[in-house]
Amino acid sequence: MTRIAVLASGEGSNFEALVNASREGILEGQIVGLITNRKGIPALDRAQRLNIPYAAITPKSFSQRSEWDSQVLKTLQEWKTEWVVLAGFLTLIGPQVLEAYRDRVVNIHPALLPKFGGDGMYGSRVHDAVVSSGANETGITVHLVSAEYDRGRILAQYKIPVQPGESASSVASRVRELEHRYYPRVLNDLVRGRINTD
Ligand code: GRF
Repeated sequence: MTRIAVLASGEGSNFEALVNASREGILEGQIVGLITNRKGIPALDRAQRLNIPYAAITPKSFSQRSEWDSQVLKTLQEWKTEWVVLAGFLTLIGPQVLEAYRDRVVNIHPALLPKFGGDGMYGSRVHDAVVSSGANETGITVHLVSAEYDRGRILAQYKIPVQPGESASSVASRVRELEHRYYPRVLNDLVRGRINTD
């Protein structure tokens, strides 16, 4: 079984969807641990409830960003991680992790990149921007992670229409359903070599 670690900063609903998909055999991989960049967040409660090992590694407890990066890498290696999966992780991944896991770090974004992405575009801000732009469709993007926010190679996208007059919160909840359904399936294709990352 491919060993997958998840990184999250908040709610962790995608993390839980990935754990469930792994247990149901939809994702042929094992979720070996959760790393967060904050303490006291719901994602950590979910890890505890789901019996998944976890580590809160907060950047502010290190004097240099490179020390945080190496602690994240050390933890991933202790878990014998093969793929690193970001699910709402709001800190830029450091160069040591990117080097050790070249083309093996994946993220999901709740819109159709390259639109509505980049630094500061996360959570409700994304859906507010989609609705106020008048876009008639939105969706999700699974992409490789690079040194810049939301700029790595796009691996898969799924779309839904935005209804006329639809609120950002309605769009957000429909996009969230799409994420829970498709993120595990795209990861399954990736770890089984059905999606080329070159
Ligand atoms: C998701 O919308 C994901 O696309 C984005 O952050 C959100 C995380 O949600 N990167 P959750 O913490 O998994 O509930």
